[in-house]
Amino acid sequence: MSNRMRQDQALTTAGLGAATLLDQLATAVLVLDGGLRMRYLNSATEMLFGASARRLVGTPLPGLVTQGESLAERLLEALSSEAPYTERELNLQLGSAADAPVVVDCMVTPMRLGNGARALLLELHQQDRHMRISRDENLLTQQQASRAVVRGLAHEIKNPLGGLRGAAQLLDAELHDPELQDYTRVIMEEADRLQQLVDTLLGPNLPPRMREMNIHQVMERVRTLVAAEGHPGITVRSDYDPSLPSLVADPDQLIQAVLNIVRNAIEALLSQSRRGQPAEVVLFTRAQRQFTIGHRRHRLVIRVDVVDNGPGIPPEFVEQIFYPMVTGRAEGTGLGLSIAQDLIGRHGGMIECQSRPGETRFSIFLPLQQGEP
Ligand SMILES: Nc1ncnc2c1ncn2[C@@H]1O[C@H](COP(=O)(O)OP(=O)(O)OP(=O)(O)O)[C@@H](O)[C@H]1O
Ligand SMILES: [Mg+2]
Repeated sequence: MSNRMRQDQALTTAGLGAATLLDQLATAVLVLDGGLRMRYLNSATEMLFGASARRLVGTPLPGLVTQGESLAERLLEALSSEAPYTERELNLQLGSAADAPVVVDCMVTPMRLGNGARALLLELHQQDRHMRISRDENLLTQQQASRAVVRGLAHEIKNPLGGLRGAAQLLDAELHDPELQDYTRVIMEEADRLQQLVDTLLGPNLPPRMREMNIHQVMERVRTLVAAEGHPGITVRSDYDPSLPSLVADPDQLIQAVLNIVRNAIEALLSQSRRGQPAEVVLFTRAQRQFTIGHRRHRLVIRVDVVDNGPGIPPEFVEQIFYPMVTGRAEGTGLGLSIAQDLIGRHGGMIECQSRPGETRFSIFLPLQQGEP
């Protein structure tokens, strides 16, 4: 028995098909036929192109990237010369020109299909995803740290504040001169105001009550809550994937997190809706395959996108908005996103933001089950 056959047998014994193994790879692996059409692709390729294998198989690869002509030339050359090549830091423009290009290392190996026809095996190793993961990790840690500082501070204020208010109340009961009572009232009212701020700073502190639930319960609840607030001129539309599996999570905490993000979108749209310009928030739910959050790689996560067509967030500001007390609004406390990130973090998930004028997208990624790959 050849070594190769022994390996195949070992895989079969372990209950693993080669395709299953390929789907576990972070590298996009695809096979192109003589017409550069995709014949096979693994899960990482689906993730790279943001489309399912069903849609991609049969499509010519160069047609999917904006600068496909030069790519096609090199691929055809490899096909006819049957010489492998590697191209480092290849910029693939996958979406519109406004999207950032994806940087990949591309390895091309010519091969023959079962019927003898020429084909190419491509391995695309995404670089910036890698860089982004480590950057995201740093960001998440920093955000958590600053949130912990704010929480600690709020906690320290909370106790003396209670004492202060209690004492003012006792004093108020002893006083009979209404003029003096005005002063104790001011102390009590201001203490109450501070108390409210401190409570917001502390954020929801109950441990999550996890149960099996459907993400669309959360989405519909948020829609109802926002509709009840009444924002004339702003449309909230939904675009769900009804086939999403259920997940284990605390629905109240997820509602709070999504609501904070949707409220921000609405606030960003207020001035353009007042001017009578189209203002829309779209709520998406999607399945996202092979996604890494922190150190953990998940086969499937649920992605919730909140997209608005508002003015956008300046690039230099986007990095900061998840920190507590960072706000771009006069009446904002700058806590909404920090709390949302915290709540989603407790579910093992994360939030990302991409923004340009006319399209701001907040994406929440949620694993189906906590602590499970
Ligand atoms: N969809 C969006 N479009 C434009 N800017 C946004 C959007 N979402 C968030 N921002 C910016 O990010 C800032 C931080 O948001 P965050 O929710 O943390 O605080 P806030 O809305 O200012 O105050 P709070 O939510 O505590 O009332 C906002 O002030 C705003 O400048
Ligand atoms: Mg907010």
